[in-house]
Parts: sequence; C-alpha cells; structure tokens
Amino acid sequence: MQVNAIGNVSVNKTNTNIAKSKGFSRMDISFSGNVRSKDVTSKLSKENSNLVFTANDKTAKVSINGKNIDRKNILVTGASGYIGSHTAKYLLENGYDIVTIDNYTLGNKDANKELKKIAKENGAKFKSYSVDIADSKGVGKIFKDNKIDAVVHFAAYSQVGESVKDPYKYYLNNTAKTTMLLDEMRKANVNKIVFSSTAATYGDPDANEIPIKESTPQKPINPYGKSKLMIENIMDDADKAYGLKSIRLRYFNVAGSATDGRLGEEHNPETHLIPNILYAAKAQAKGEGGKPFKMFGTDYPTPDGTCVRDYIHVEDLARAHGLALQKLMNGGETGFYNLGSGSGYSVKEVYETAKDVTGVDIPLVIEDKRAGDPPTLIASNEKAKEELGWEPQKSLEDMISSAWNWIKNDKWKKH
Ligand SMILES: NC(=O)c1ccc[n+]([C@@H]2O[C@H](COP(=O)([O-])OP(=O)(O)OC[C@H]3O[C@@H](n4cnc5c(N)ncnc54)[C@H](O)[C@@H]3O)[C@@H](O)[C@H]2O)c1
Repeated sequence: MQVNAIGNVSVNKTNTNIAKSKGFSRMDISFSGNVRSKDVTSKLSKENSNLVFTANDKTAKVSINGKNIDRKNILVTGASGYIGSHTAKYLLENGYDIVTIDNYTLGNKDANKELKKIAKENGAKFKSYSVDIADSKGVGKIFKDNKIDAVVHFAAYSQVGESVKDPYKYYLNNTAKTTMLLDEMRKANVNKIVFSSTAATYGDPDANEIPIKESTPQKPINPYGKSKLMIENIMDDADKAYGLKSIRLRYFNVAGSATDGRLGEEHNPETHLIPNILYAAKAQAKGEGGKPFKMFGTDYPTPDGTCVRDYIHVEDLARAHGLALQKLMNGGETGFYNLGSGSGYSVKEVYETAKDVTGVDIPLVIEDKRAGDPPTLIASNEKAKEELGWEPQKSLEDMISSAWNWIKNDKWKKH
C-alpha cells in the first residue's frame, strides 16, 4: 500500500474503515509538527487507493502504524502543456508535491496559475520554474534547491508533419535536450523517470501486428517517432551505466479535458481529431461559416472506410503516470507500456458521436487520403493491465463531452 500523507489526524471511523479495506486491523496515525486535527482532512483517493491527508502545516511528518510516511516531490517537465498539466493536477490531488519546469514555447501560463490554486486546495507544495530543460545551470540549481524523488517528463515537440519538414528541431528538443535533462538527474542522484513516449515509435506495423503489443517491433517512420525511440534506447543504456529506472508510456491518441472543467487542451496549431471536430462545431454553433471538419479518406480497408484509432481520456492517462510513479517508488524496474483502450473508433464514429454530444450539425468536407496514415492503429493494453493495474475507465462520450465543455467555455489567454 502506498500512503501519501501530511498532517495530524486522529483515528476516526473513516480511518478505521480505510484501515480495514487496506488489510490493517487498525490504523494509528501519529504526527510531528504543529497542526490541529480539526485542520486536517483525509480521503481515500477513488482513483488509485492512495490515502491522502491534507493539512495546512506542510512541514508535519506523519507515521502510520509506526512507519514514517514521506510525501514525494515530483519534478514535472512540460507541466503547462496539455498532458503535463492534467498529470500535474492528478499528482497534486493524490498526495504528491510537485516542482514544474516549462519554457512556455507551447504551454499556457494559465494552466500554471490553475495548478497553483489546485496545489493550495490540496495542501500540496508547488513550485514552478520558467526554464528550458537544456538550461543545465538552471535545471542543476532546481535539483539542488529541491529534494526531487522522481521526474515525469513531458516537455517535447510532437507534430509529425513539422518533424518531417524540420527534423533538427525534433532531434534537438526531444533527443538532445532530454539527454541533458537525464545528465542533470544523474548529477543530482535522481534515478527514476516516467517518460512520454508514443505510438509513433511503432511506425506503420503489419496488419498481423494489430493490436500493437510492446513486443511489436519499433520502426518509426518519421523524425518525431525516431526522436522518442532514441530516448527510449538512451534510457536503456542509462539503466545499465547509471542505474536509471525509467517507465516509458507509449501513448496512442489522447483526448478530453479535466472533468471539473479546470484544465483543457490548448494546442496551437491543433492537429488532433477530436478538438478539430469540436472547433468546427463551435464555429457552426456561433454562426461562423467556412470552418468545416475535414475528413481525410473514406476508402480505407476498415468497416466504414475511415481510419480507426485508439483513444483514451487524458484523466485515464494521468492516472497511468501515477501508477507508473508508484511502481518506481516501490523499487520497480525499467519498463515500457502501451496506453490505449485495446479497441478503436473510426473517424466517422468520432464525428457522429461529436454531433450527438454537441447537438450541432457539424459541417463536413471529405478530402483525399493523407500520405502515411495507416488504416488501423490499436494498442493492446494487456501489459499495462497486468503490471501497472491500469485500464481506461472513461468512454469516447466522456472524452468528447469534457473536451466540448472546455472548448465552448475556454477563457484562457492564448500565449
Ligand atoms: N497529445 C498527444 O496525443 C500525445 C500522444 C503521444 C505522445 N505525446 C507526448 O506527450 C508529451 C506531452 O504532449 P502534449 O500534447 O501535452 O504537448 P504540449 O505541446 O501541450 O506540451 C508540451 C509542453 O512542453 C513544453 N516544452 C517543450 N519543449 C521544452 C523545453 N525544451 N524545455 C521546457 N519546456 C518545453 C511546452 O512549452 C509545453 O508546455 C509530449 O512529449 C508528446 O510527445 C502526446
């Protein structure tokens, strides 16, 4: 059992029930520090069964059944971006303190402001730095000034088309700069990292390799996928040489926004399917013509002729990072996992669901197939289920309705 805790609590009915559900006959919670029990709230996280205590004295130490419980401090890079901000929120709500790094080339400063509020509400420590991951001096100082237990690394560029036109941009930012970050981790004796890898490392697998397993050969077909695979390989070498333990999460398609509406997807330009359908819906609902959704290709060898992809909700993805961190904290070895639903939706199905969810007759134009779009890409998530205890809990409707809620109401400044 992992318990993240701070503060002073007395054993009450809730704690006794939690103790039982965790297989303890009792749960004696003691504390050091100057907090009063009435200032403390405790909750069992529904998401991952962490027991989370919140108090206003962040220096207090808690012990449970005589064992000292330390909060973990996680460095999150790219925390002002889409997936980074949702994962940072998840960590703050689930008993972690965080330090964030972003250079704001793509991220949104409003995400950072929201995270600061979320940290306060959850009694978590939160520090953010506006710095590039390759600023060795700056990053080295961050490691020196903060006791970091592990890193979750999102900072990267991720547009396939751009990577083909400007490969150096990708090899520099994704591969070279990540290596510099890893080197700073080594100097600071931080040896745990969860890394955002991608389905793009598999390239265009043979039809008999679908659903894609972790054993499917990684043969990326563009500089973006290659830049990420290189890092996976570097991490293997770093494990052998320096004892770096990494969990590489290979995401397929990620969609949706925070269910409570506090964070959302803010890519510029937006290249992802679901937000693009919803931007067309928003323009239509506002009476702005000329912004239809473009469907590329309707004669693929799939049930309805449009491409099939595997989507998961960004909150399911955030939880996977929490589980990967726990595994590393518990002494877990280096590993890699596909994060997908195990089944897919066609572009047409996504479009039809978006029409139902939004109630908007979203204008559509059919265009020619794009070069290099494989007909079907679906992940097998068996390994993540078995070894991380992860599987997605949210549906396509959940992804579209939360994304719609965000896009309809978006008040963030565009940076
Ligand atoms: N969005 C997806 O569907 C998807 C799918 C597979 C993999 N991924 C991977 O997940 C990660 C996050 O993706 P996202 O969609 O949230 O992207 P994003 O662009 O929203 O976020 C990336 C963040 O990293 C920051 N950043 C980039 N380079 C930096 C640097 N050198 N130093 C400091 N900060 C830097 C950006 O400012 C931004 O805030 C990426 O590594 C991406 O490759 C995303």
